[in-house]
Amino acid sequence: MAFSLQGRTVLITGAAGGIGSATAGTCARMGAKLVLADLEHPHEVAERLRAEGAEVSTLAFDVRDRKASEEAVAGIEQLDAVVANAGYCPWDDWNDPDWDTVFDDTIAINGMGVIHLVRPAMERMIRQGSGRIVLVSSVAGRMGGLRASPHYVIAKGGINALVKWLARRGAPHGVMVNAVAPGATATGMVRGQEFDLAGIPLGRLAEPREIGDPIAFLCSDSASYICGTILDVNGGVYMN
Ligand SMILES: NC(=O)c1ccc[n+]([C@@H]2O[C@H](COP(=O)([O-])OP(=O)(O)OC[C@H]3O[C@@H](n4cnc5c(N)ncnc54)[C@H](O)[C@@H]3O)[C@@H](O)[C@H]2O)c1
Repeated sequence: MAFSLQGRTVLITGAAGGIGSATAGTCARMGAKLVLADLEHPHEVAERLRAEGAEVSTLAFDVRDRKASEEAVAGIEQLDAVVANAGYCPWDDWNDPDWDTVFDDTIAINGMGVIHLVRPAMERMIRQGSGRIVLVSSVAGRMGGLRASPHYVIAKGGINALVKWLARRGAPHGVMVNAVAPGATATGMVRGQEFDLAGIPLGRLAEPREIGDPIAFLCSDSASYICGTILDVNGGVYMN
């Protein structure tokens, strides 16, 4: 069955958050076993999905920590797909006094944090001859963002370039790498922010499930010929 993750194990970072937990829900309904990771064990999401019959384990690590990320990947018995979803978007101004420090942290989480995760995952998948990696980018990396500060724009623009580098490296070994670039999505990340809905052709923010479903699709065999793409899921804000 094409739209299925039966028998697959999917690792999702940022799984306690809006898009990560929605992705976990879709992957579970598609039959995947889940390894859900966040700064703290995402127990609440895990319990909810177990109650629906999913097989779920949890991990706690900081994606800025290379050793912890590598140990997490190495400790998973079977690994078929990785969703590099953990992210950080400070809604600050580049004139703020501490902005340069925030810049470093934003790049560390959204840039280096992805490398820390996908480097060991890709090496493992290349050895096993199969795998899926989905990076979670942003419309900010496509067209400068709706409200985002430049550190986040740089980080997500970098992800949009990195996905191609990874895809070229993985494809000959059966490892498919793609990205989803969400527009503004109703999660904790945008709480307190106001968006000009008139500037969004669909006239509303995305619901987390509307991002999680395309991510799960890219983890599945339905996406078996999709390689190095950035799937825009943004209500028409940016049309590629
Ligand atoms: N919400 C949006 O509008 C939007 C738009 C475009 C892209 N995105 C991207 O989607 C992804 C998920 O964001 P979300 O909207 O669900 O936000 P969220 O804040 O609900 O979830 C982000 C999760 O990442 C985790 N996280 C943050 N720093 C971490 C670290 N150092 N190590 C491990 N985990 C860490 C957080 O604990 C949180 O659970 C992010 O990569 C974000 O940049 C979000």
